[in-house]
Amino acid sequence: MAMTADGKVATAGREVVSFGSPHDQRALYALRATADALLCGARTVEETGATLGTGSKAFLAARRRAGLSPEALRVVVSGAGSLSSDAALWRSSGAPILVLTAGTASETQRERLRSLGAQVWKSPSQGLDLPAALDWLAREHGVRRLVAEGGGVLNAALMAADQVDEVRLTLVPRIFGGAASPTIADGPVADALADAARFRLASVRAVGDERFLRYVRMSRVDPQ
Ligand SMILES: NC(=O)c1ccc[n+]([C@@H]2O[C@H](COP(=O)([O-])OP(=O)(O)OC[C@H]3O[C@@H](n4cnc5c(N)ncnc54)[C@H](OP(=O)(O)O)[C@@H]3O)[C@@H](O)[C@H]2O)c1
Repeated sequence: MAMTADGKVATAGREVVSFGSPHDQRALYALRATADALLCGARTVEETGATLGTGSKAFLAARRRAGLSPEALRVVVSGAGSLSSDAALWRSSGAPILVLTAGTASETQRERLRSLGAQVWKSPSQGLDLPAALDWLAREHGVRRLVAEGGGVLNAALMAADQVDEVRLTLVPRIFGGAASPTIADGPVADALADAARFRLASVRAVGDERFLRYVRMSRVDPQ
């Protein structure tokens, strides 16, 4: 996630959805080049026009060297199955598209997504059981390493379900302001400090006036 100095990942009206440097863009592609699958929330796919592609030949080569498939699977979380048929994702060639839906999503929506070319997973529970979805991706599609690309609603759900091993954050020296501007985790994760998702700062890299942070998960019961 790229984040402003005031902790925002887009402007309140979502007019600005991309604000990292070219280096930040390359870092994202480099990270994608390490993944079996990419995971994105439905609103991010719609609002940013994300197609979850591999990028230039250099990244394809990196995947080959790492023994990965030529392209990472493209997985979208859409509990209600509302992911728009107009999303650019559908018009882009690339790896198979998988959509994860809640048990309560209508069969009509699932059929629509299938007709667009997606493989659709239905949660065994009424809501969307993220750990079960990730188990399915591992079991049925061999996904070992998954890169989640936001947005905040999806990130918060992954954090709340304790499914995040690492956080990669690009700190961009801009201020968007606005109480309603999206952040990296836009949903309840903890009510008490003891329940907060905890990470250790593993590295900080400075490139120009951006800072590239890598955080690694700590157990919630680890001593300070
Ligand atoms: N700066 C960055 O690095 C960065 C990266 C990514 C995104 N963004 C910004 O983030 C904004 C979009 O993020 P967002 O938080 O609004 O939306 P989001 O997380 O991308 O998508 C939310 C939608 O995904 C589905 N979803 C996510 N988690 C779910 C769960 N646990 N259970 C069921 N469904 C779930 C739901 O779809 P249904 O409605 O179909 O149920 C939900 O409405 C955009 O403005 C984008 O620019 C910024």
